[in-house]
Amino acid sequence: MLQETRSQQFLVEQIKKPLYYKLQGQVPFKCILSAFEAAGFERIDEENWLIYWGLASKETLKEMKKYQKTNHFPGCWSVGRKDNLWIHLSKVKRKFPTEYYFIPNTYLLQHDFERFEGVRECAPKKTLWIKKPVASARGNGIKLINKKTKLTADKRYLVMDYISNPHLINNFKYDLRVYVLITSIDPLRVYMYKDGLVRFATQEYSLKSSDIKKRFIHLTNFSVNKQSPNFIANNQNIEQQVKASKWSHKEYKQQLANQGINHKILFKSIEDVVLKTCIAAEPLLLDRNGKTSEHKNNYFELFGFDILIDETLKPWLLEVNVSPSLNSASDLDAQIKTKLISDMLHLIGVEYHYKKAFRVQIKKRLYERNINEIQSINSRNFRQKVNQEDLDVMLQSLEEQLRLGQFKCLYPNKKNISEFDDFFEYPRFHNKLIQKYFEDGSNWVI
Ligand SMILES: Nc1ncnc2c1ncn2[C@@H]1O[C@H](COP(=O)(O)OP(=O)(O)O)[C@@H](O)[C@H]1O
Ligand SMILES: [Mg+2]
Repeated sequence: MLQETRSQQFLVEQIKKPLYYKLQGQVPFKCILSAFEAAGFERIDEENWLIYWGLASKETLKEMKKYQKTNHFPGCWSVGRKDNLWIHLSKVKRKFPTEYYFIPNTYLLQHDFERFEGVRECAPKKTLWIKKPVASARGNGIKLINKKTKLTADKRYLVMDYISNPHLINNFKYDLRVYVLITSIDPLRVYMYKDGLVRFATQEYSLKSSDIKKRFIHLTNFSVNKQSPNFIANNQNIEQQVKASKWSHKEYKQQLANQGINHKILFKSIEDVVLKTCIAAEPLLLDRNGKTSEHKNNYFELFGFDILIDETLKPWLLEVNVSPSLNSASDLDAQIKTKLISDMLHLIGVEYHYKKAFRVQIKKRLYERNINEIQSINSRNFRQKVNQEDLDVMLQSLEEQLRLGQFKCLYPNKKNISEFDDFFEYPRFHNKLIQKYFEDGSNWVI
């Protein structure tokens, strides 16, 4: 009895202790500070952190304990750079041309220069492309080009088909910033946030040749358009929210509904683009993550997908941002992003640890398992067939589904998990185990 009371006291003391997070030496955004604070975290500069926010050094990553988490997968640039995204997605697109027909054709000028020049020569007179630096952001260095623009095989740039028929609202072009959270690669766990931003251009859309240099017409980046005299920040005091240059997805859906457009169908196809992109990136993220169980729970990543909707309401993937802007430039930004980070901290489920319990780290172990075994699992033999790691993985996946906040689980999703099987380069044991659990595991005692 005495012992129990002591251990209870110990637990209470532990619970009272703050959770610590560390920020890489950057000026932190207000929404990050507020979200961490609201979640009971204190900022620390030493090593006793539970969450490291920023790009951690290789040494930090190597030394991470089982209970620590950081917000970038080592392989995040395999989708986070525009050239890499195209290299990987185009491979899958060759295999599944219809299903992956959502990234505009792209030419890396270093490798595809001559092929592109051939395509350009044969293209109809008024065709446009967009030239972008392979590794930049915020609209920097981006230009529209036509059949006459002079080009060189510059390795720092790529050229992409220009989606010249965007869906317009009040005659303005816009794109969607969609927030996507990955909490694990093996098994894959992908979540999409139910809100996000709509970013408008600040001059009415035009395809006139004399307008192709006008960035306020063709680019929808906030960093570009905030310089426009027409830019209107979405603050609580503005008279009409519809005039603002940034909207929430909620406002956007309302606008579509007013126009008689079914936004549910549109967002379903956006979810499809997001999940297929994550599945295409899975082998690369996993490779860089190391095929060992040692660091598999140490990472999460909040990506910002840039999605353009064309006039047929088809979503196009323009790029995937690692470290999407968390700047609270307007009341709307602050509101959406603070809630986003709070929900994310809740979902990833950091636990307070007491060091003793975690002193023993799991040893490096390759987890290559026989996938065919899964078929023979049933409620009677379940406990013999799976090991502790399998159970932990299943529990984590199921527990995350109880902490979704405004996130929607795209994978593993009981309703459609098997529809995406074909797109995985390799079937993975834990993905398949969770799938089997969804299909006939209602009597399994985890
Ligand atoms: N293929 C495209 N078709 C039409 N517009 C595009 C295309 N690619 C980019 N854009 C426009 O240019 C903007 C910036 O492009 P993006 O690829 O997101 O680069 P950055 O990293 O600079 O934000 C987009 O937000 C969009 O408005
Ligand atoms: Mg962008």
